[in-house]
Amino acid sequence: MIRFEEVWKALEGRPVLAGLSFEVGEGETFVIMGPSGTGKSVTLKHIVGVHRPDRGTVTVDGVDVGGADREGLRKIRRRIGYLFQEGALINWLTVLENVALPLRELTDLPPDEIRRRALEKLALVHMEEARDRMPQVLSGGMRKRVSLARSLVMEPRIMLYDEPNAGLDPGTATEINRLILATRDRLGVTSVVVTHRLACAFTVGDRIALLEGGKIVALGAPPEFRGSTDPRVQRFLGTGQD
Ligand SMILES: Nc1ncnc2c1ncn2[C@@H]1O[C@H](COP(=O)(O)OP(=O)(O)OP(=O)(O)O)[C@@H](O)[C@H]1O
Ligand SMILES: [Mg+2]
Repeated sequence: MIRFEEVWKALEGRPVLAGLSFEVGEGETFVIMGPSGTGKSVTLKHIVGVHRPDRGTVTVDGVDVGGADREGLRKIRRRIGYLFQEGALINWLTVLENVALPLRELTDLPPDEIRRRALEKLALVHMEEARDRMPQVLSGGMRKRVSLARSLVMEPRIMLYDEPNAGLDPGTATEINRLILATRDRLGVTSVVVTHRLACAFTVGDRIALLEGGKIVALGAPPEFRGSTDPRVQRFLGTGQD
C-alpha cells in the first residue's frame, strides 16, 4: 500500500533520509518514532509528494509518488487524509465550515450533502455541538478533533497523523488515541502515525519503527519493540514521554 525503497533525501545540503525502506500493508497502523529532527515529518511529506526523493522510490498503491505529475499527485492526495503537526484550522471559518472545506474545494456535491457529510464526521469525533463555533475559542484537544474530522471528510483510505497528541494533557491524548483506533475500525483505513508519545505508539500501532540517522534502526510489533535489547531502542524508551 505504502512503500519506501532506499529513499535518500537531503534538505539544504544536509542529509535527512539515508536509505529509508519500509512497507505499510493494507489496513495496518504503522508507527514511526524517533528523536526530534530525525526526519519523521519529512517522511510523511514524501507520501503526499510534498518532498520527492533524491534517490530511491516512494509508492502509494503502486504509483510512484516521486515521479507523479500534477494530475497524478492530485489523485494520490485525494485518497490521503493528513493530520498536520500544526493542526492548521482556518481561523475565520466556523468548525463546520472548516470540516466542509475539502468537500467544497474538491467535489461538486450539493451544499446539503456537503453539510451532511461534514456533520457526520464531526459526530465521529464528538464535536457536533461545536459546529458553529470559531476555532480560536476551542481547547487544543478540541481543535485536534476538528482537524481530525476535516482530514477524514474525503473518506480517505490512508491516514497520516503527525504528532496527533503532542501538547495535549494525558486524558485528551488518550481520547485522541481512541479516535485513531475508531477511525481504523469504522473506515478500515491504512495509517502512518508519527509520535513521541510511547502510550500512543503502544496503543495504536500494529508495528513500531524507530527512525534514527535517516533510516529505520529497529522495527517490530509492540511487544517485540518494547522487549528489544537494541541499545538505541532501550535508550529511546528510557527517554520517551508517556
Ligand atoms: N522544508 C525544509 N527545508 C529545509 N530543511 C528542512 C525542511 N523540513 C525539514 N527540514 C530539516 O530536516 C530535518 C528533519 O525534519 P523533520 O521535520 O522531519 O523532523 P521530525 O523528526 O519531524 O522532528 P520533530 O519531532 O521535532 O517534529 C530537520 O533537521 C529539519 O530542520
Ligand atoms: Mg515533525
